[in-house]
Amino acid sequence: MSRVHRETLAACGDVSGLDVVDLGAGSGAITVPLAMTARQVIAVDLSSRMLADLQQGLETGLGNVQNVTTHCMDIATFDLPPRSVDLVVSCYAMHHLNDAEKAAAIRHAAAWLRPGGRIVLADMMLGRGLGARDRKIIASKVRLLARKGVGGWWRIAKNAVRLSLRTGTEKPCSPGYWSHLLASSGFTDVAVSEVVAEAAVVTGRRPPT
Ligand SMILES: C[S@@+](CC[C@H](N)C(=O)[O-])C[C@H]1O[C@@H](n2cnc3c(N)ncnc32)[C@H](O)[C@@H]1O
Repeated sequence: MSRVHRETLAACGDVSGLDVVDLGAGSGAITVPLAMTARQVIAVDLSSRMLADLQQGLETGLGNVQNVTTHCMDIATFDLPPRSVDLVVSCYAMHHLNDAEKAAAIRHAAAWLRPGGRIVLADMMLGRGLGARDRKIIASKVRLLARKGVGGWWRIAKNAVRLSLRTGTEKPCSPGYWSHLLASSGFTDVAVSEVVAEAAVVTGRRPPT
């Protein structure tokens, strides 16, 4: 298990008896461990292949697996009844959404959570190179790619254009963007924890009433 997965699960805390939704669940690196103790985990992913892998992982004998439901859907259109879950978690998926979709997903998450419920977002968290943290991350990636010769320099040029114009499939935002979005969507106790390189975890809580 990667350090990001470990930190994400640690941020989720004790999920015994809780209703959880995992957005961009992939093959279940977060869903499966949470399902061991949660009341249920609703796993959402755009890719039927990833969900088939998740299902296969569940069927090859991992604990209490009757409590996972999979939904092959876009996070941007997925919906749940208001106040129906205790934890919304997402690991390394939100950077695939554009900024309007990210904002809508957080608004939805706020509506789905019961009072006191929590959100845990782990992702590639990187702005457009304006802050010191961004510049440090970008410089380390440029150094890595530059060592690969002409192909590496070509990727540096492509990535620079994608990052500045936000045209690629990866549209990461900075930890500051996420914490501001959570706070402005009504979450309290918003906290950021940097994990490794560009990865960070942002958490928040729905007010208890
Ligand atoms: C890097 S994987 C992470 C999977 C898992 N959360 C983990 O941490 O191992 C990103 C996942 O997000 C899914 N994904 C990307 N865009 C999505 C979207 N708009 N709606 C739902 N799932 C999406 C992909 O299919 C992929 O399974």
